[in-house]
Amino acid sequence: MPQEKSRVGEIILGDNLAVLPEIPTESVDLIYVDPPFNTGRRQERVRLRTVADEAAGDRTGFQGRRYRSIPVGRQGFADRFDDFIAFLRPRIKEAQRILVPDGSFFLHLDCREVHYAKVLLDEIFGRRSFQNEIIWAYDYGGRSRKRWPAKHDNILWYTKDPRRYTFNYDAIDRIPYMAPKLVGPEKAARGKTPTDVWWHTIVPTAGREKTGFATQKPLGLLRRIVRVHSRPGELLCDFFAGSGTFGEAAAREGRRFLMIDDDPEAAAIMRRRLAFAEPVYREV
Ligand SMILES: C[S@@+](CC[C@H](N)C(=O)[O-])C[C@H]1O[C@@H](n2cnc3c(N)ncnc32)[C@H](O)[C@@H]1O
Repeated sequence: MPQEKSRVGEIILGDNLAVLPEIPTESVDLIYVDPPFNTGRRQERVRLRTVADEAAGDRTGFQGRRYRSIPVGRQGFADRFDDFIAFLRPRIKEAQRILVPDGSFFLHLDCREVHYAKVLLDEIFGRRSFQNEIIWAYDYGGRSRKRWPAKHDNILWYTKDPRRYTFNYDAIDRIPYMAPKLVGPEKAARGKTPTDVWWHTIVPTAGREKTGFATQKPLGLLRRIVRVHSRPGELLCDFFAGSGTFGEAAAREGRRFLMIDDDPEAAAIMRRRLAFAEPVYREV
């Protein structure tokens, strides 16, 4: 990864499975990913293998070394759970490798996939490294009359080391008590610590935050993760970056970012959105 220390961020257009092997072991402090959920759509991907090649490499990687990507086949996967987990497995293994020893990994899914993914993450990180399942609860959109309307996403938090990790308790934003009169004015004014259920609106349709990217996540949610689970100056990565919400959260909180996505539209949105941080851009 050719990111200089002085640079705030980097955006890479490319398949994350081709880019992740370039990233040095134990070099990233916090990873958040929000992969495409099990949508029922069929996805096509060219599988690439990255090899070091000083003579004929077509791009420059970590410490100026030259690399070449070799297509090793076309991979089609119907977006069903077994294929979805097979798609995630090598990427999450890479995530575990590149995390620093006290780093954290966040996986954002919904209730259709999260249980299968938890089994996968237990296998890769170890069950003792599971810290929380955060429920992001929102209240927007239609309501079924046939079953309970599903209005939450699930975010799994794992640490590389089950005992040693960053958790900045004092950086947690406090929330109002539901019944402030029951706790007295002082406590009511201070507010309380949020639980693992985070109430937060979706990205407002007419708000400043909206980029037009269909699956954009709210900045407020990701700023909380950045503030509590990393320190200023650290390197944060999202390798399913979409519109770059995690990159914006990182930059606004004084952290460095590495954003990877294989969709040119997503990369274009990120370049506009993160221009204020003057990131390096490259295509793999
Ligand atoms: C749900 S979106 C992420 C949205 C993002 N959290 C945001 O707030 O905008 C998932 C992203 O993963 C990207 N993606 C899917 N497969 C990928 C792959 N193999 N490599 C890199 N990006 C991939 C898609 O292009 C899409 O932008």
